[in-house]
Amino acid sequence: MIVVETIGEMQSYIKEQKQNGFKVGFVPTMGFLHEGHVSLMHRANQECDIVVTSIFVNPTQFGPNEDFERYPRDFEWDERIAKDNGSDVLFYPSSTQMYPNEAGTKLTVTKRTNRLCGEKRPGHFDGVVTVLTKLFHIIQPDRAYFGQKDAQQVAVVDDLINSYFFPIELVVCPTIREEDGLAKSSRNVNLNDDERQIAPKLYEALNEAREKAQKGETVFEIRQALSDTLDRLERGETDYVEILSYPELEPIKTFDQKTIIALAYRFESARLIDNIII
Ligand code: PAJ
Repeated sequence: MIVVETIGEMQSYIKEQKQNGFKVGFVPTMGFLHEGHVSLMHRANQECDIVVTSIFVNPTQFGPNEDFERYPRDFEWDERIAKDNGSDVLFYPSSTQMYPNEAGTKLTVTKRTNRLCGEKRPGHFDGVVTVLTKLFHIIQPDRAYFGQKDAQQVAVVDDLINSYFFPIELVVCPTIREEDGLAKSSRNVNLNDDERQIAPKLYEALNEAREKAQKGETVFEIRQALSDTLDRLERGETDYVEILSYPELEPIKTFDQKTIIALAYRFESARLIDNIII
């Protein structure tokens, strides 16, 4: 595996691979890699000739009071994990490489963001599509791999790719979980012991909601019950609980379309999100 830190070097590498007719798979990440990220690399490795993993903690997708500074970072660890799991290139640009000057053209997401994290984190998805547009142009992947864990991100990226004709196939991979059900996340290291004990209850609550949907309870009842369950947890507080159509993310009254049950929950030093699609 090679580590590439400049855009110029990355572009000439990709040009060469494309001339050889190789299919490029891309796994964008913010590092502090875990099995969730690894599952994307494995899938990319199965389906593509070259796997590029990027590590860039993107400042533009963090709000002013969010955890940009506190976001966990460990390049040596990431380098080893990426290398051992089928990445051929680790793209590790600096902020000045990615944002050399104030761009005169801005990207703003106007659909699929008035709810869930889009509502709670204003500007977050503008930052996500901005950095992904840059990364997609640099790496020119044939396929890009994303986790269902960040379901709204998938919905937004799906629209970005379609609206702007990126010749990229979006591959969505299932959420990887700890044995007790907690969705793997780089932010889980910021949970204290008590919070770590409680955190798996988020996924339990989503599963209860799914069972209720299968038994025929209404969207309204299930959302209320899920919200009550979260309110009873001994630590933290609910950021949102929503049941929406997917990927459009519109309010629904019945379960007769693809549906997402999603939540965000704030512990002292980590805000966790999780979802299930039914
Ligand atoms: P990051 O949070 O590092 O996640 C990188 C990718 O890993 C995303 O596609 C995310 O959905 C996926 N992922 C994270 N946890 C997962 C899990 N438990 N199971 C499966 N996949 C998981 O998402 C971002 O970074 C950034 O917003 C980025 C797309 C890199 C743009 O900056």
